[in-house]
Amino acid sequence: MSSSRPTPIAVLLSGRGSNFVALAEAIARGEVPARIALVVSNIEDAAGLAKARELGLPTALVPHREHGAREAHEARVLEALAAAGAEWICLAGYMRLLSPSFVARFRQRILNIHPSLLPAFPGLHPQRQALTAGVRVSGCTVHLVDEGLDSGPIVVQRVVPVAEDDDEASLAARILAEEHRAYPEALRRLLSEPWRIEGRRLRFGA
Ligand code: GRF
Repeated sequence: MSSSRPTPIAVLLSGRGSNFVALAEAIARGEVPARIALVVSNIEDAAGLAKARELGLPTALVPHREHGAREAHEARVLEALAAAGAEWICLAGYMRLLSPSFVARFRQRILNIHPSLLPAFPGLHPQRQALTAGVRVSGCTVHLVDEGLDSGPIVVQRVVPVAEDDDEASLAARILAEEHRAYPEALRRLLSEPWRIEGRRLRFGA
């Protein structure tokens, strides 16, 4: 899995894009052997898309409303990824589920970040789910994407405490700071270390 040339990656986002920026900054610092070949958004006014343009990165806007069915939208995204030569995909707040056929095209080369310690609290509002459940710690998970919802093999997790007076926003902010460390770390390790999948488990090492 290690290589001397930077691996071309695409980042898919729908919103703020702070995880995208954390990845871009880590790459610029030479901490991750990747280059961002494309930033794709399905949302025209996503702040992350504006930031990518500001950074001079190649971008593609593929609005899902204009492309109707999921297959048609994904076909357009796949075309853009192929044209950019992207080999890995980092989902960074991309609010679309990927179809099994899309996932199969990039098998074990799609990463996602989720603001909970998976497999706890998948899906929407994980910070709210954590507060409702009364857990004392939560955190974030970077995982490979499979056909399920937030269910692929786990690459990196980081833990944060839940404070007595936390609300959804304060817990989300504490988790987000760790997300910005976890995502570059996960991508760096996957691109520079040997790893394999055994069952549901991702194991580093030869
Ligand atoms: C993050 O909390 C991420 O874990 C989740 O969506 C949020 C995206 O935030 N999947 P940002 O757009 O990266 O700032």
